[in-house]
Amino acid sequence: MSGFSADWLTLREPYDTAACNAAIRDAAIAAIAGLDPVAIVDLGCGTGSGLRALAPLIPARQTWRLVDNDLSLLARAADTERPARVQVTAVPIDLAHDLEAALDGAVDIVTTTALLDLVSGPWLERLTVECAARRLPFYATLSYDGRIAFDPEDPGDAAIVAAVNAHQRTDKGFGPALGPTAGAEAIARFATVGYFVDRQPADWVLGPQDREIQNELLAGWAGAAREFGAPLLDDVVAWLTRRRETVADGRSSMRVGHIDLFARPTEMRRPDRSQSNSTSPSRR
Ligand SMILES: C[S@@+](CC[C@H](N)C(=O)[O-])C[C@H]1O[C@@H](n2cnc3c(N)ncnc32)[C@H](O)[C@@H]1O
Repeated sequence: MSGFSADWLTLREPYDTAACNAAIRDAAIAAIAGLDPVAIVDLGCGTGSGLRALAPLIPARQTWRLVDNDLSLLARAADTERPARVQVTAVPIDLAHDLEAALDGAVDIVTTTALLDLVSGPWLERLTVECAARRLPFYATLSYDGRIAFDPEDPGDAAIVAAVNAHQRTDKGFGPALGPTAGAEAIARFATVGYFVDRQPADWVLGPQDREIQNELLAGWAGAAREFGAPLLDDVVAWLTRRRETVADGRSSMRVGHIDLFARPTEMRRPDRSQSNSTSPSRR
């Protein structure tokens, strides 16, 4: 168990889909155009939302390596309905320890959704170095960036958002998490190893009708603030009560900031399928 329930991932998936930045996604797809088959690794795949979002948009035959340490989520991901041209292997890996194993073998692009904000600086450095050593493009969507805006505003919002963002920096299994700084850190690190990096906002925009996800988020944020120990518990409860009333009245809207990024090496590796380990380099 990773602490991410399938129900929560299912609830957020349509909002992730709506938030996805099309320009960044198209740049990622363009980088693998002409490869057939194309080998894709999805790090922290959950129930397979990345596969569902991307596979239909890639006309080539595809092999997806779905990686997660939650066996239950991974089993759902492996069951995802997909076109015949798409093959899937589900690989249980604890990425905190065995990132390199997830990237070994035939890989043309690395993708991930809503994972980077969980990881630490040293882990992100490992990821950057491993991608760069293999000259692999890297496409990361839905990295939370610390922005939460409420409409209508409440006097308790700022303290809760501050607590949530501080809680985001606590250890999620990879060491102290980058939380809201993850996207910016990834952009800087990939630029340092010579990648071209594009980024665009990919915010969740939640309207008054989106009651269920708003209530889940509010509960999660109140829980994070409670665990963090500030504001005082009474203030957290009062804030949650007022916010829920606003949701129930159909008056609540929210925007939750995320970024999508695509990092492309200046030279990409051309896969040599004739060799068992296609990480051996040859130039495009
Ligand atoms: C926020 S969820 C995102 C899931 C999926 N990418 C999506 O967008 O629906 C984070 C995912 O990372 C996985 N994860 C967290 N820590 C992990 C680790 N140490 N190794 C492998 N997967 C991990 C979780 O199991 C979960 O599926």
